[in-house]
Parts: sequence; structure tokens; C-alpha cells
Amino acid sequence: MSTIVVNGQQRKVKASPDTPLLYVLRNELGVMGVKFGCGLAQCGACSVLLGDEEVRACVTPISALEGKPVTTVDGLPQRWASQKGKMSAGTLHPVQQAWIDEQVPQCGICQFGMMIKVTELLEANPKPTDQDIREALTTSGPSPHLCRCGSYAAILEGAHRAAKLMMQGESA
Ligand code: FES
Ligand code: FES
Repeated sequence: MSTIVVNGQQRKVKASPDTPLLYVLRNELGVMGVKFGCGLAQCGACSVLLGDEEVRACVTPISALEGKPVTTVDGLPQRWASQKGKMSAGTLHPVQQAWIDEQVPQCGICQFGMMIKVTELLEANPKPTDQDIREALTTSGPSPHLCRCGSYAAILEGAHRAAKLMMQGESA
């Protein structure tokens, strides 16, 4: 039995330490805002934040968490509320609100990882350029974040809108 922190809550897990986080989140803890794409760290669908950094949950064993909290897209509202010093979360994180405003998703399977990656970027770089966003999604991780539907232009707009919302302190 190990204990991991997921979306602000301590969760006890029975899985062995070498079990990939993706399977623990979905199968044991019922956290569904993390998706299975390739299972090989090649697409980004399974991305979560470990502390402040994106990791690929499909290849990250729970033994590698080292006490750092995990945030999935489900936990983004609480994360934003904490960052703004609020006790309770609103309904959406600015990145999630921007994704709705810009109608970013098509089939949606890649978008959970896309929002995690953009959140990581905006927390480190609140005013990214187009190039910064492109690089974050293509060269900064173990592999590019892939979207089979080709929603890249909308993702770019969503990231810029999210940056504006975050600067204004909105959506929590
Ligand atoms: S499912 Fe993890 S990177 Fe594709
Ligand atoms: S929205 Fe369908 S794969 Fe990206």
C-alpha cells in the first residue's frame, strides 16, 4: 500500500510501486481526466502535472512520484483556487474556460494532455509568444503532443486566451 496525493487529496493505493500512474489513476482511483493514447510516452494524452512539471503518466511508475502531488485536468480548478489564495475552487481553471471559449476540442482525446501542458507553460511563462507555445507542445517534453484531429490552430488561440484570463485572475 502506498499513499499518493492526487488533486489535493491523499489517496491510498494498492498497486505495486512499478505500476504506471495512468493505470492507478484510472483503474484504482477513478480519476478519468487522464487518457490512454499510445502508452509509450509518444502522444501526450496521458499528461499530468507532477508538482509543477508535466510527466507522461503512462510511463511514470508511482514509485517515481517522490512525494510530489499529482494534478490532472480534474484538479485544475482547485489548483487555480490555491494559487489565488481561495479556500474553495470555482468551476473551471482559466485554461479550461479558454478551451470552451475558443471551442478548442474536436474529438477531445488529446485535449486533457494539451490543457495540462499549457497550464505548465503559463505558470512558468505568463505571456508566451506563438513560438513559445509551439515549442512547449513540440520540443519540451519526451515527445510532441499529438492531435489527430488537427486542432493546433485552436490550441494556439486557447493558450493565448488562457494567458489573458490568468493575467486578469479570472475563472475561479
Ligand atoms: S498515452 Fe502516454 S504519451 Fe501517449
Ligand atoms: S481533438 Fe481529436 S485528437 Fe486532438
